[in-house]
Parts: sequence; C-alpha cells; structure tokens
Amino acid sequence: MAAPRTTVWKLDPHTKAKHDLLKHYLGGWFPVLSSYNGRIVFLDGFAGPGRYESGEPGSPLIALETLLSHSHFSKMKCEFLFFFCEAKKDRFESLTEQIAGFKEAHQPWPDNVKIQLIHSEFSETATSLIEYLRTQKKRLAPTFAFVDPFGFSGLPMRLLADLLSFASCELFVNYMVDHVNRFATAGNVDHHLDDLFGTSEYKNVGVTAGQSRQQFLHDLYERQLSEVCKFRFVQSFAMINKTGHIAYYLFHGTRDVKGVELMKDAMWKVDPGGGFQFSDRLAGQDVLFTEEAVDTEPLRQALLERYKGRRVSIAVLEQFTLINTPYRKTHLRKPVLTPLEREGIIQVERPGRSGFPAGTWVTFP
Ligand SMILES: C[S@@+](CC[C@H](N)C(=O)[O-])C[C@H]1O[C@@H](n2cnc3c(N)ncnc32)[C@H](O)[C@@H]1O
Repeated sequence: MAAPRTTVWKLDPHTKAKHDLLKHYLGGWFPVLSSYNGRIVFLDGFAGPGRYESGEPGSPLIALETLLSHSHFSKMKCEFLFFFCEAKKDRFESLTEQIAGFKEAHQPWPDNVKIQLIHSEFSETATSLIEYLRTQKKRLAPTFAFVDPFGFSGLPMRLLADLLSFASCELFVNYMVDHVNRFATAGNVDHHLDDLFGTSEYKNVGVTAGQSRQQFLHDLYERQLSEVCKFRFVQSFAMINKTGHIAYYLFHGTRDVKGVELMKDAMWKVDPGGGFQFSDRLAGQDVLFTEEAVDTEPLRQALLERYKGRRVSIAVLEQFTLINTPYRKTHLRKPVLTPLEREGIIQVERPGRSGFPAGTWVTFP
C-alpha cells in the first residue's frame, strides 16, 4: 500500500490477515522460547500508531495481548522485552498513548513484561543495539523481529544479518515486491535497493528468460536471507489480493525446525477472509492455504518424485513435508500416505497394526 499521510489509517483485509498470522505464531513462539530462556525479545521495527482508524489494534498491542491473555502466561517465568520502534513523531505519540492505555487496562502490570518505546528509525535503533551488545560483549536474547515497512527503505540486509546473528533470532518481514519491481531498473533509488538486498544483482531483473520479474525478485531476496542472514530455513508466502495479484510476500527466517512448524501452522490456521489468500508453490503448482478441501496432490507428486525407488522412514517424510513443501505434518498421513497405500502404490512396514507411527518405513515404487 502507498504510505498514508495521516497518523492512523484504515485496516485493510490483508493487514488483518498479517495480524492474525502474527497472533497465531506468537501464541506458539512465546511458550516454546520462554520455557528454556531467561529473557526473550519481541522487536517491532516499524511499529505504527498502535491502532487503526476504527480502533483495531496494531501489531504492538497484538503482540502484548497475545502474551498477556495466553493460557500459559502465569507459567512463563522468563522476562519479556518488547521494543517498539516508530520513526514518525505523530505516530510515535499515538503509539505511546495506546501503550499507556493498554497498561492501565492490564493492572497490576506483570513485573516480567518490559516495554521500551523508541522514537527513531529502525536502522538507527538496530545499529545502536548492535553497538551496545558489542561493547558489552553480549549477544541478543532470542528475538522475534517483525519488520513491516510501507516500502523498501530502512531495512538493510546486512543490518538484519548483524542484529539477528544469534541462533535463536527470527525474522518476519513484509517484502513489498510490487514496489521493488517498479523501481528495480529505474536507477533513481539504487542505494535503497542495494541496502535492501545486500547486493546489486536486482538490476538483472528481466534478464533471465522464462522467469517473471516478480519471481526473480522473490528468489533473490530469499537467497540473500539464507546466505547473508544465515537463516537455515526461509519460508515465503504470497499475499494474493482479490484480483489474483500478489500484494506482497511475507518472509519468515528461522534456524529452528520448530519455527518452521509453528509458522506453517499459523499460515494454515488463518482464515484468508476478504478474498485474500496465501499461497506458496510446489513443483510449479500454487498451493493455497485454505483449510477447506486442501488439495494435497502436489504433496503426493512431490513425495513420489523425491523418494522414487527408495525405502524411507516416516520421520524423513515428515521432515521433508515440513521443510521442503508448503504443507503441514497433518497433511502427510491421512490425506496422502493412506490413499497411496490403499491404491497399492507404496509398501508400508509398521510396528503396530495400523497408521503410520514412529518406526514406520515406507517403500516407494
Ligand atoms: C506498515 S506501518 C506498520 C504497521 C504496524 N506494524 C502494524 O502492523 O500495526 C509502517 C510504519 O513504519 C513507520 N516508519 C516508516 N519508516 C520508518 C523507519 N525507517 N523506521 C521506523 N519506522 C518507520 C511508519 O510511520 C509507519 O507507522
């Protein structure tokens, strides 16, 4: 979307879907991370004014509410540190007011939840945080960084890499591919694009035959997140609007399989509503994230292709489904393996009499 000039603006359906994703993901991330860390951080780099035009909560309030209303909150003993960074003065003031109101409504405020409001550009905040950690010879606590700009300036790849270098840090970034596409070969904002990608290879957009400009820009950003930021797992989801056009991509970078699992679950849970859909691609086919009548044919084909003539354990098939396809673990057994066995296509050796429990081996034709 184009950046509004007003302090607050209308909540549109894809922003609502993005918020639902954030809520679902944090609902799983908070308890997992807090169970084996003394402190965890949620960093909202482009925090916004706190609420939308009709009073709907923005990302900072959503993150706080998700934690405080969590059914396991009283059992989470670690310290939660929330950094909310907003550059624009009027929006920062609005955010400050909204957070104060939220705290007032949640008295007595829990001692282990700390909020830091920062009126500055994300890149300045990140640079001083890195500097501070360097001088203190400390590393960032496990951090979930939500980076949600209007355009593509102010989120340099190398800065994200420095900030999120510690193993348990994750990134959830809104990548405005449409804007990038428009400016990639214009030549007038190359310094921003160089920063965004950490390379100038975006200038080759349109050169590769048989690949759309959007796909090229998607793949380049994905590659940079894994190579520069060293995220072992990078998932992306296209947010498709009512006209079937990609509004933007959400990229999630993590180094933990559990993170992949949680994000997949969040994606499949969110009701796309309002005509918006999420999609990912497998074997050149779009996989849409709508729970009703999930089409698992691309998963079936991918498994048959990948494990042709091999005998593999159920654990390997689960891992492949989770990491190499857009599907969740729950899409593997009943929707795909059961029919494959019934049709006599796969041979199954199982420890019990039915199902695909741990210890099961599957032979593919
Ligand atoms: C898309 S909005 C964020 C919405 C918010 N994350 C939410 O979901 O409710 C982007 C916000 O970033 C702010 N902003 C723009 N450039 C910035 C920068 N360089 N650093 C920090 N904030 C910035 C804008 O004023 C705007 O409020």
